[in-house]
Amino acid sequence: VVLPSPPPALYPQAYSTGPKDILSDLKLPSGFFFGVATAAYQVEGAVKDEGKGPNHWDWAAHIPGVVWDNTTADVVDLHYYLYKEDIARIAALGVNAHSFSISWSRIYPFGAADSPVNQAGLDHYADVIASHLQANITPVVTLLHWDPPLALAAYYGGFTSPEIVDDFVNYAKTVFTAYNGSVHTWYTFNEPRPFCSEYSGAPFNATLAPGVNSSTAEYHCTYHVLKAHAGAVKAFREMNITGEIAFKNDDYVGIPWREGNAEDIAAVERHVAFQIGIFSDPVYTTGDWPQIVKDTLPPDFLPRFTEEEQKDLLGSADFYATDAYRTFFNAAPLDGLDACVNNTAHPNWPTCNIEVAYDSIPGSGWAVGPASDPQTSDWLFATPQWFRHAMEEIHRRWPTNKIMLSEFGFTQPFEGSRVPNEIYIATDDPDRTNYFMSYLSELLLSINEDDIPLAGAFAWAMVDNSEWTSGESARFGIQHVNYSTPMLDRTFKRSALALCEFPSKLQI
Ligand code: NOJ
Repeated sequence: VVLPSPPPALYPQAYSTGPKDILSDLKLPSGFFFGVATAAYQVEGAVKDEGKGPNHWDWAAHIPGVVWDNTTADVVDLHYYLYKEDIARIAALGVNAHSFSISWSRIYPFGAADSPVNQAGLDHYADVIASHLQANITPVVTLLHWDPPLALAAYYGGFTSPEIVDDFVNYAKTVFTAYNGSVHTWYTFNEPRPFCSEYSGAPFNATLAPGVNSSTAEYHCTYHVLKAHAGAVKAFREMNITGEIAFKNDDYVGIPWREGNAEDIAAVERHVAFQIGIFSDPVYTTGDWPQIVKDTLPPDFLPRFTEEEQKDLLGSADFYATDAYRTFFNAAPLDGLDACVNNTAHPNWPTCNIEVAYDSIPGSGWAVGPASDPQTSDWLFATPQWFRHAMEEIHRRWPTNKIMLSEFGFTQPFEGSRVPNEIYIATDDPDRTNYFMSYLSELLLSINEDDIPLAGAFAWAMVDNSEWTSGESARFGIQHVNYSTPMLDRTFKRSALALCEFPSKLQI
């Protein structure tokens, strides 16, 4: 792939990180969540224990080639049993919140509303939540982080079917009832866009949605996720559950490659609409799909909302939550450029929205895989200098009183791979440390200089874990896990120590 030369000076105001002594005069708002994040499938292990049913990933990870290093999360960090130790370790770091997810198939092993509830699963999370509260760590709970019960895929194709909506709302009600009063900040879904793209075959060749391999599936999933979200939030409000609820969107804010270029600006608009607006517009601003999306995708591809559905959707979140790992540039198709990602099989899709990460931290990584592979190489960047711009764009397009930075984090290809002295190499992580410090510096400026109402930031991840298709080879943790030891020993990395010092230098 031959990329055009980058433009000379883009948005100089975005390059704002100042020296540390300037930042230390800045404040985090009171009550700010300075947290860490995990997700059930990625850390728990114990996949067949205490009545749990299988989920999509328990199944998919066993298919050779789905996970890059062919590891599964059957054991992984065994957080299901080691949660008390993990909570003690994060309490020692001084963070005040942990965002984690509940595994639907531990509560309903078969998923369906008319199937039995697994009391052991409910009791388990009750103790997990109570243990956080005892340690003065606020539990922030996600209902579904990409791991729906496999049974529902087998029954009716999972989120491609309208039947999922009632089953999800029923699961949500059970969990709300069980933990009302102990949990105050909730998310329905984690990053639904990449979750739904699993159903279209990209990027995993439809391996994750049994029986489903159609180009419409991604958008049918999108529609059903939004209906399930709105249904759960309606129940949350009708049941008078205390607290606040939203969903975690992902972070593809685009930047025009050539400043002021009309075609590139149009490419950004398409990109933002398909990547973020498709979930955020219905919930925060219009109750409907973005116009560009409707103009592109016919109703059999993307079902249209009824008036009733629009009413339920609009306003169905109490705050905005975004994961923010990176920023992409968008450009109109350029000669000789072949870096098109996020295409779908649909002929109407505006292809060749190029996405390139520019001016990133050198050596920063995302997924494993050869750098020449466009499937992975365009993920290999982190761009803290665009953080403020991304927050401003999000706040401008979907204004709310409160934004949660629900995940940010960093990995390096082959970090911690099997080399002598593994612990030393894997725990001395200056690039990740640099990533967190620069993102947090930008976050301080975003709050103090741009008046962005950021209310929390959650470092992904509390501990090394199973990174979906990259398995154990992509290590996002601020703690190293030695998978060769029976106790799965955790060791704080340098980045964990830097993170925990950060708020102590500021006024909260
Ligand atoms: C966001 C996802 O929510 C999380 O599951 C994943 O591990 C991180 N991104 C890093 O890829």
